[in-house]
Amino acid sequence: MKRLYAPGAIEAADVLEGRVEPHYTKILMRLLAAHAIAEKLTAVGYQRALENISDANLLATIEKNLAEERKHARLIYQILDQLGIAETHADRSMIPAIKLPSFEAPRHFAETPGDALDLLMASLSLDVTGLLMIGVNYRESSYAPHQRAAEIILDEEEDHDTFAAAQLREAVDRFGADRVNAGLRQWLPRAVNFFGPPGSGFTFDCLRYGLKARDNGELAEMYLTMLERRFDQAGLEMPHLTSVYPHAVI
Ligand SMILES: [Fe+2]
Ligand SMILES: [Fe+2]
Repeated sequence: MKRLYAPGAIEAADVLEGRVEPHYTKILMRLLAAHAIAEKLTAVGYQRALENISDANLLATIEKNLAEERKHARLIYQILDQLGIAETHADRSMIPAIKLPSFEAPRHFAETPGDALDLLMASLSLDVTGLLMIGVNYRESSYAPHQRAAEIILDEEEDHDTFAAAQLREAVDRFGADRVNAGLRQWLPRAVNFFGPPGSGFTFDCLRYGLKARDNGELAEMYLTMLERRFDQAGLEMPHLTSVYPHAVI
């Protein structure tokens, strides 16, 4: 699909002074509100992990990730604020959306106390997915402030991904293959659904406006390919998922 705007082509002033069509602004705000709440729920999850996990080897990383997820949320809320959208307003607009399967992973991480294995599952479901959404989509955003924020976030999400990958390699030794495989069957559908439904009207608009570079379905494929290799190396089973969104384990 031909994108209307090149990466970084639009600045806040273009939106505020009406130089883009009103529909662009509407789609941009919805995308930013979704990104912001996803970062915020992830931060809440790390906060919860800090309270529940006593493993001294994990504490420094949990604290680092918590601080960084809070910073990511703040960066995106600042972009919304610049457009006249307050954090409370943005969050309120997301109330129906966060009940959908696409938000189950961050919601579950934020709401459910977990142990070190849950932390690994959440990191695979939120940080590794986030790395793809930000690295593939938002880094190329036509909205320059979102593109700039993506560069900052991406650096840190790469660290989070490295943490998840290292934890995964040790997981069989630490928790036993059965427990890890059971965790993957529980979390993988949530993780894949976090990309959102493929071929939606909203994503069509995002692609056309250059707010995303790839469809949700393509990102989900990339993610599964990446994980399949990692699971294989760690001696873990790739759960079989239903092919249609929202995915479930077979
Ligand atoms: Fe983040
Ligand atoms: Fe992260």
